[in-house]
Amino acid sequence: MIILHMVPTSIHVLIIEDNPGDARLIELMLAEHPEDGYRPSFAVRLSEGLELLARQPFDVILLDLSLPDSHGLSTVQSVLEAAPATPIIVLTGLADEATAMAAMKAGAQDYLTKGQGDGETLRRSIRYSIERMHTDEEKRQSGERLRRALMQTIQAVGLTIEKRDPYTAGHQQRVAELATAIGRELDFDPDRLEGLMLGGVIHDIGKIAIPSSFLNKPGRLTVTEFALIKTHSAIGYDIIKDVEFTWPIAQMVRQHHERMDGSGYPDGLKGEDILFESRIICVADVIESMASNRPYRPALGIDVALEEIARNKGRLYDETISDACLRLFHEGRFSFQGGEGPIA
Ligand SMILES: [Fe+2]
Repeated sequence: MIILHMVPTSIHVLIIEDNPGDARLIELMLAEHPEDGYRPSFAVRLSEGLELLARQPFDVILLDLSLPDSHGLSTVQSVLEAAPATPIIVLTGLADEATAMAAMKAGAQDYLTKGQGDGETLRRSIRYSIERMHTDEEKRQSGERLRRALMQTIQAVGLTIEKRDPYTAGHQQRVAELATAIGRELDFDPDRLEGLMLGGVIHDIGKIAIPSSFLNKPGRLTVTEFALIKTHSAIGYDIIKDVEFTWPIAQMVRQHHERMDGSGYPDGLKGEDILFESRIICVADVIESMASNRPYRPALGIDVALEEIARNKGRLYDETISDACLRLFHEGRFSFQGGEGPIA
């Protein structure tokens, strides 16, 4: 559906065109519709157009691809960079159909072939381009809002679990922060980092099913109590396995207590069979837990935690991940927010 009210009442058009005859023709066509309030500005070189764009906003850009100082697709790319939120309509010669299509792919909203079409075609193209740009921007914003709401919901779920267990308040958040720092050190792209962060924030979600008297118990747990606590990773997996995340969050949760030599739980997976993200969360989890107070012991401190990783890397913990993590701490590029202890 076209929503016409999106088009501004006065339309400031930047025409970047080096052929004076073509520029004059466009000006005349726009003048046919004074009710649209077209206000044309002209540039004959790309550099001149970019200067105008830096100085003021435009509603639409009519862009000739062959200019004295720029040619073809790079012209579109330069203008897109300078004004990413302004719709571009490419003006091309008759033989330039392929270039025009490539320009559309690169981000132009429409193209017009010079010498074809009339003022009405131009007018329609301008309105359509402005409307489509608005719609695209609205879609982008609503996608971004949805993404933020998802992140906040997951954070809220993470906090809910920790409300039952004051000793581990902030644990998942801190694990997520360290895991994300490790992922970044290992060149994860932003999307994969986001998934890793979410996995970290809810990795202990299964603890919701463990009686809080066990979680908060000072002193040693019995074998039975410990066996019950160990069920939390599989329970966490069950809780979220049907959520259609674009990342393997349920597997991250299930496998965060697996160890490289197969001595972990719940499945006793080994090495490469363990999801890489889980291997990261595992290292971050061990460090955060050892560096924090627990009901049954005071904090062991970050140095002891790092020693544990250094001593067992390659055997219990992934070597590449351990090295990346140790680098972050030893080079002073990571420290837990809010200190090493639990946040009250
Ligand atoms: Fe856990």
